[in-house]
Formats: sequence, structure tokens, C-alpha cells
Amino acid sequence: MISADCVVAGCRQVLTCRGPLPKRREALRDLGLVENGWIASDHGRIVFVGTENEFRHGVETAAGAQWIDGGGLVAMPGFVDAHTHLPFAGDRQQEFSLRLQGATYQQLAAKGMGIQTTVQATRAASREELRAICLRRLDDMLLTGTTTAEAKSGYGLNLDAEIKQLEVLRDLAPLHPVDVVPTFMGAHEVPPEYSGRRREYVDFLIRTLIPEVRQRGLAEFFDVFCEAGVFSVEETAVLLRAARDAGFKLKVHADEFSPLGGAQLAASLGAVSAEHLIAISDEGIRSLAASDTAAVLLPGVSFFLMTEKRAPARRLINAGAAVVLATDFNPGSSHLSSMLFVLQLGVFTLGMSVEEAINACTANAACAIDRRHEVGTLEPGKKMDLLLLDVSDYLSLAYRLGPNPIRWVLKNGKAAVMDGRRTGVAA
Ligand code: NIG
Ligand code: FE
Repeated sequence: MISADCVVAGCRQVLTCRGPLPKRREALRDLGLVENGWIASDHGRIVFVGTENEFRHGVETAAGAQWIDGGGLVAMPGFVDAHTHLPFAGDRQQEFSLRLQGATYQQLAAKGMGIQTTVQATRAASREELRAICLRRLDDMLLTGTTTAEAKSGYGLNLDAEIKQLEVLRDLAPLHPVDVVPTFMGAHEVPPEYSGRRREYVDFLIRTLIPEVRQRGLAEFFDVFCEAGVFSVEETAVLLRAARDAGFKLKVHADEFSPLGGAQLAASLGAVSAEHLIAISDEGIRSLAASDTAAVLLPGVSFFLMTEKRAPARRLINAGAAVVLATDFNPGSSHLSSMLFVLQLGVFTLGMSVEEAINACTANAACAIDRRHEVGTLEPGKKMDLLLLDVSDYLSLAYRLGPNPIRWVLKNGKAAVMDGRRTGVAA
């Protein structure tokens, strides 16, 4: 007999999202659906998913086990947000207002606004301020179903401020249930004090920042903004190799505005993911499809920047790429933290089916942060990170816009959200 200390009984539908990962092509539409499903976990890990009959014959519950009535609710894995810029201070409402008057994101960046504005605010913030800001944002994320979030530094761009951002991320672990996966992104932009000396900043990253962050064990991934006017493909390649040699796993902000070839570079260096891809070329699509590098699409950016240009989700899926959806939560180009909304944008703006969008926010998203054995699906052995939705069918996740249908969020088998409200559960 399997023993369990947490049982979710009688769900209308259970979307397990299980299957060989990552899901490509037709497999991306398979939700591994179980009707009238039961799920059980023990010490935070799933031990059973199946029917009531299988449960009664195979699982015994510990005294004092938590029973949750899933009657009428739909269960699915917690969202995995594979791309956020969580630890920043300040906001960019001024810039937003200028954009509403016709200025473009790139024009503002070229005038020294954009990322640099947030760098100033983030450098000026104390650790305590930054930590409090992050905790509030993680609460927002949790309420809209995110149970694991990647988070990038990159608004410090000097040793102290990058370390501060990454240490704040590390210190969130005992304070908040959302798991945070840290990425060092000192190559987000060339800081103002290196203006006209970009070579020197690249050298500084390679000689000082990369080894220092690695040695302190503060980040698992390294990411570069490979874009016209930011880091060239050549600079990106040098930086990624240095980071890989230092022991980082790799991510790349690739082909967001210009088709420089960041996607091909990411695939050729075995990066875990290439992200954005609004301007990806046919060759880039072929490279990703033939690789294990996940294609992380961020539809919030096209929406927030009010551009018609969209990442070619259908072509990527048809070619066989491992497509993922994420928020890109940041103050300039995607000030949105809800994976629920991203799922809806995937359907409404990228032409994905609801099933594809769900898998892209869960099972495939786990692959994009190298957590495929931990989260992203409801299967024995994985974390009991689960959402219970008050919808009559999973299609409502995209069909019913506006209200938040998430009633329960279980994190490691504990209720972090109950009746749509945050509980006191910390970690
Ligand atoms: O992912 N693309 C680069 N960085 C962010 C934008 C950062 C900002 O505007 O502050 C992004 O879109
Ligand atoms: Fe980003």
C-alpha cells in the first residue's frame, strides 16, 4: 500500500500533463486527462494519480491526513514561469505614458531610459526594500497559479548590485512558498559607467562577475540580451562560453527585435532555452526544432509593447520545437506576472490551442528551467504543486476571461492559497 498525508478527492478533471518531455508537435496537445481523478501526496511529493477505485485499493492515508474535496473542480499542475526579471525596484510608468503618446521602446532605450532607469532604482534600493517588493510580487504570482518562477538579476550591472539582487532571491526561499530559480544576467545591458567601453564591460563580466557569482553559488543559469544595440552575437558567444566553462547552464534573450541569430547560437551551445524569438528566422526555427533548447515565447511583450509582431508559435510547434510560454515579468516590456493571462495570450494572440498553451505553461516550462523531474506535471515522484480551478471544463481557462478561477494552490502538498486567498504558509 502507498501511504499518503494529503488527498485531493474526486476532481471533475485532472490534467496530469504527463508524457515524454518536452512535448513537441501533436504531443503538445495531450493533457493526460483523467476524469473524476484523485491525487495523493506524501511529504510534499505526489504518490498517486488515478481513479477513486484505484485509490481505494492502492493508497492508505496517514492519521491526520489533509483531505481536500475536489468535487466539481479541475486540477492541474502549478504554473512554471520560466522567464521573469523579478528583483527590480521602481517602475516605468513615465516611459509607459510616453509610449502611449507614440514613442517606441527602442527609442526610449536609445535615450538612456528603459533598462537604465530600472538599474538606477535597483542600485539605490536596500536589500530589505528589494526583498519586500519581491515578496509582494510572489504573492501576486501565487494567486494566479505560479508555483515555480525563474528570476533574473540584470538591473544591477555592477558587482555589489548584481550580488544584492541574487542574494535577495536566495533569501526568499524560507519566506515564500513559490520556488525561485536564479539566473545571473549581468549581460542585460552595458551600464552607463562603461558607455563607449563595451569591450571592457564584456571583459569585466568574464574576469570578475561570472567567476564571482559562480563561486558564491548564487545562480544556476546565465543569460545574455543578444540584440542590436545591446550584445552582438559575437559578444554573446564569448560570454556564453565563459559562463558555460564556469559551470552555468545557459539561457539567451534571442531574436526579440532583430533576427541576429541568437536562436541558432543558443542551440549550437546547448543552451537550456532561447527566449523571446519574435524575430526568429527560418534557420533559427530549424535549429531549435533539431535541438533540446526550449523555445520560450513571451506573448506579454508584443501585447505590452502594442506591436503586431508576434513570435511564430505555430511554425515553431509544427517544426518540432519545444515551445514554452512565460511572462517575462519586467517593468519595461511586459509588466505582467500572471501566467493565467499569458496562457490566454498564447491562445488569443499566438494561435495556440488551449491544450498546447496549458502544456507550454507547465510541463514544457519545467524543461526550460531544467526541472522536468521535479515540477510541471502531476505524476508520482514530482512535487505536489497543484491548482484547483472552479471551472466546468479546462477550456474555460482561456474561454472565461477576467475572473480568476484558481480556488486552491497547493505547494509541496500544503495549501498556499485557499478559497482564492493566500494562507499563512511560508515555505
Ligand atoms: O526581456 N529583453 C530584455 N530585457 C527585458 C526588458 C527589460 C526592461 O525593459 O527593463 C525583456 O524584455
Ligand atoms: Fe526578459
